[in-house]
Amino acid sequence: MGNMESTASEKSRNILVVYYSRTGSTRKVADYITKQLGADMEMIIDMKKRSGVFGFVIGGMDALMRKETKISEIKKDPSKYELVIVGSPLWAGNIPPAIRAYLNKYKADIKSVAFFATSGGLSQGKIFEEARSLIGKELISFMGICTKELNDDSVFEAKLSSFIESIAQKK
Ligand SMILES: Cc1cc2nc3c(=O)[nH]c(=O)nc-3n(C[C@H](O)[C@H](O)[C@H](O)COP(=O)(O)O)c2cc1C
Repeated sequence: MGNMESTASEKSRNILVVYYSRTGSTRKVADYITKQLGADMEMIIDMKKRSGVFGFVIGGMDALMRKETKISEIKKDPSKYELVIVGSPLWAGNIPPAIRAYLNKYKADIKSVAFFATSGGLSQGKIFEEARSLIGKELISFMGICTKELNDDSVFEAKLSSFIESIAQKK
């Protein structure tokens, strides 16, 4: 048993979950994946104020215009990991400025990448295609989950399990 445990943590030590979350939905998914895989985690902080109605509107416009933003200093070096799993909310059908800034800065350090997106509506649109072209690498796996699914425990667990399984298979 002790042996099995050490093997499992050995295997997953090389995964980093990087996410940005304005209101906690993407964090919920990131937390779950991090725990399940025994991964390390990095939370990206947007230095620009994104709260309130004004923050929402400007945020949407910035995302739409593919703008970057200033992000806080990172704590984990992505080049140290075999796989980076990026978690992002969908903003105006696109990648929010904080995730864009992170990826532009560190894409060359990312060996292998998987991507998940949370959204208010049912569809995550073209965010995965956008992520793939921004990073310049195929996503080994991707998953989108909407608010309704996030709040339904059985759907949440089913979606997350299949995403985690597909990552484990391809890693
Ligand atoms: C600026 C902004 C733009 C958004 N645009 C979309 C959108 O185009 N389509 C969609 O389905 N949800 C959209 N949403 C909703 C978020 O994608 C959804 O609530 C997400 O799960 C929030 O994640 P978070 O709680 O981690 O910040 C938008 C939210 C914000 C703040």
